[in-house]
This record gives sequence, C-alpha cells and structure tokens, in this order.
Amino acid sequence: MSEAAARKQWTLPVRNRHLLLTRGRRRAMPPVKTLRVLGLQRGMSFLDIGCGPGYFSVPACRVVGKNGRVFACDISPVMIRELKTSAKERGYGNLTAKRNQGSRIPFPDACADFALIAFVLHGVSDVQPMLAESRRAMRKGAAIALIDWHKKPMDMGPPLEARFEPEELVNELRDAGFRKARWWDFDGNTYFVAAQAP
Ligand SMILES: C[S@@+](CC[C@H](N)C(=O)[O-])C[C@H]1O[C@@H](n2cnc3c(N)ncnc32)[C@H](O)[C@@H]1O
Repeated sequence: MSEAAARKQWTLPVRNRHLLLTRGRRRAMPPVKTLRVLGLQRGMSFLDIGCGPGYFSVPACRVVGKNGRVFACDISPVMIRELKTSAKERGYGNLTAKRNQGSRIPFPDACADFALIAFVLHGVSDVQPMLAESRRAMRKGAAIALIDWHKKPMDMGPPLEARFEPEELVNELRDAGFRKARWWDFDGNTYFVAAQAP
C-alpha cells in the first residue's frame, strides 16, 4: 500500500476518448487478435472493466458470438453511452454495459469466463478492491488479463509516476489470490499480465 500511496494515479480525460479508437492503435494492438491471443473464445462470457468507448468490448461481441456474452463497465457514463451506441450500430445483441461506482463491478458473482482490465489500473489509487471485485465476478479457473504501459519514458501514455512495473501487477494479482500470474512484453511499450481465478 505504501507503493500505491506514493503512486500518482492518472486517467485519460473523457474529452480525449477519441485517442482510444484510432487507426494507429488498431494497427499497433489489433483488438480481435489480442483478445484471441489472450484466450477469448466463442461462447465465452467476457468482462471488460474500464471498457471506455469499447475498443475491446465491441470486437469481443463478435469473438464470443451470439451464444457468448459481453459484460462491460466504466465509471464514465459518456464511455458507456458510446459503447452501447457502437454495439447497437453493429447489431450486437450480446452486450450488457453499465456504469460502475468506485470499484464495485455491477454484475453478478461468477458471471465471467474471462476478465480484462486494459489501460485502467494506472488510474486507480488502490488496485486491490478492483481485483477483489473482478475475482468475485469470475468463475473458478477463469482467466484475467491486464494490459498496461511499461514504466519507461515514451512519447505516449500516462505520466511515468502513474505507471506500474509489470512485476508489481503480478504481485498485486497474487495478493488478490489469483494463481499462475505471469507477464510478458507486447511491443516494447506495453505489456500483458495474465492469471487464473482460484
Ligand atoms: C485509458 S481508458 C481505457 C479504456 C479501454 N479499456 C481501452 O483499452 O480502450 C481508461 C478507462 O478506465 C475508466 N476507469 C477509470 N477508473 C475506473 C474505475 N475505478 N472503474 C471503472 N472504470 C474506470 C475510465 O473512465 C476510462 O474509460
């Protein structure tokens, strides 16, 4: 907690949400391919925490298909509204998107086979309540993936003081009771951390 207290969290201003849906981002981290590499499959139930306008949630609707489900939440009502519009325009009927208050995830216990927290944790003061809530909403053995920026100077992403070293997130997952936590580099700027719900 002393580390968390020393960290200065930072969240992308809502007015800059267009930066989450750029072509450059799609080229650098194609969402469907990324979700599949992380283990999302047809028929699964996907939980996207801090979903933003749907960079991952919208393609996830297609990946899981009509027998799968996508649960998405965000503290920003603007993000939720845009995500719903985007899914509706594409004719996806398998999305449930809700605003969350604080770290509480507005979905039932054990509803998810796969949970994603992408580029969110650097904006959260204490990650343990969010990880505990994720665990509650996940089935036994379900996968969780975190994606975030490396803690090194670069001309994009959040301020350095807000970022986590990947090993810190591995330890946070272990502290929250997740198993088999491990991380790997994605492209030199970003990394993935994966683990399993007990
Ligand atoms: C940089 S955006 C990433 C959005 C999306 N995950 C993506 O990769 O495109 C961070 C998002 O996290 C949301 N957020 C920040 N704190 C949150 C919290 N405690 N619970 C849920 N969402 C949160 C913000 O509103 C914002 O939409």
